[in-house]
Amino acid sequence: MNDVDTTPLDEKRGMFSSRRVFILAAIGSAVGLGNIWRFPYVAYENGGGAFVLPYLVALLTAGIPFLLLDYALGHRNRGSAPLSFARQHRATEGLGWWQVGICFMIAVYYAAVLAWAARYTIFAVTEAWGDDPAGFFIGEFLRVGDTTISTEIVMGVALPLALVWIALLVVLSLGVQKGIGATAVVFIPILLLTFGALVVQALLLPGAAQGLNTLFTPNWEALTHPGVWAAAYGQIFFSLSIGFGIMITYSSYVRRKTDMPGSGLVIGFSNSGFELLAGIGVFAALGFMAQASGVAVTEVASGGIGLAFIAFPAIISEAPLGVLLGVLFFGSLVLAGFTSLVSVIEVVISAVRDKFEMTRVGATVAVSVPAAVLSLLFFSTTSGLHVLDILDNFINKFGILAVAVVSMVVMAWLVRALDPLAAHLNLHTSVHIGLWWKVLVAAVAPLALSYVLVLEFRDAVRTPYGDGDYPAWMIGTFGWGAALAVLVFGLVATLVPWRTGTSLTSPGEVDRASTTGEEVR
Ligand code: ALA
Repeated sequence: MNDVDTTPLDEKRGMFSSRRVFILAAIGSAVGLGNIWRFPYVAYENGGGAFVLPYLVALLTAGIPFLLLDYALGHRNRGSAPLSFARQHRATEGLGWWQVGICFMIAVYYAAVLAWAARYTIFAVTEAWGDDPAGFFIGEFLRVGDTTISTEIVMGVALPLALVWIALLVVLSLGVQKGIGATAVVFIPILLLTFGALVVQALLLPGAAQGLNTLFTPNWEALTHPGVWAAAYGQIFFSLSIGFGIMITYSSYVRRKTDMPGSGLVIGFSNSGFELLAGIGVFAALGFMAQASGVAVTEVASGGIGLAFIAFPAIISEAPLGVLLGVLFFGSLVLAGFTSLVSVIEVVISAVRDKFEMTRVGATVAVSVPAAVLSLLFFSTTSGLHVLDILDNFINKFGILAVAVVSMVVMAWLVRALDPLAAHLNLHTSVHIGLWWKVLVAAVAPLALSYVLVLEFRDAVRTPYGDGDYPAWMIGTFGWGAALAVLVFGLVATLVPWRTGTSLTSPGEVDRASTTGEEVR
């Protein structure tokens, strides 16, 4: 059923045509590279089966509550992240720009990983890596050089990367429903089919049970390590796409009379369900590899990039119907990653549109072209892998988690926005947003995340990232420097005035006033 209260302003910004399309787009954003390559390894490293406990605690105490905060901000204020914050309280606009900066940084490297996955989907057909997947990935494909900044472009990466940016430009120019929504409606069901097929194929491989045993055998002792809890909170934020401004932006495109808390629960649990499925599929495949090479699963499991682009190709070469397994795996990475990347860039585009009153196509070009150039300059060269590894680590920890803590504290304690935000969510809801939510957002989640941040900060200072693989200047520039740059950008961007046509009054305030007869300031 269509709502009748669609304002001309909403029409101009673009909207998802239904709640279903919004849910698919939000799942498309949440389910990404983080679910397929990051979760299995993080879970395995942090207690295996026992990791499910901190993971669920993090989901329920911080993930879902923060997701609902994002929804309330975006849906009530109907703006990009900076505009939604500014409409909630003028002084908080910078929090939105901080998130815009984070998204810009993530977009430029996430596109590169997507380009690798696209290339590997084709490599999988001929098993182009031969019998040395590690040598092929590092030496032949990326041509990784030493730890200096290189300007030597690797064409095998630059071409697919340019294509990724062209595809993004097209989808994002088409707008909220015809571009973002339609892509999710097509991609998500295909992703479920390809990934489902991959999991079934992996479970049928000999040795799969051994892999699952390794993943799910709980190491309860791990729960006494604070680092395990830190990993769970970090994983939830990256995976649910919260702390990026994405969910604020997407919820601003949702019709007013929509059950946002109910949608949030569907999205949160779908994302975690997919994550669990990825853990099962990936570890079943690792179990096969361990059995085939006569070693323990622990020997074949490797972290992050290595898992997807080195361990998996080795499995594909060994497995029966390996080509199919490879195409399904890398194809799934492309599908999942593309819908996530679309959402990351949309945060920047929508902010630029709101601030400068630009057309969709104008803002898309203004954001995507410089991002594509930076992406090509930094990540299609022989030093791309080093920069990517450092940037990813620091932006996730000291960008996303930091902005999440600060925004919860500011919203709860400084501008005291939780009551009006809860009231907004409760206008149309299947789940009452009561005291439990305020306690989680105002106290439990910020305390837990602050603890995680302090711990991560202490570790990063004590042991420089990469265990000596990277020179200090590189960590200073692409690690600490980048994390600081997005914060400074957040503050500076607030100095640029909004175009006169942009109202800083919350439509939520107008709605409320129209029922109480109050005058809106
Ligand atoms: N949530 C997205 C992912 O998991 C960013 O990759």
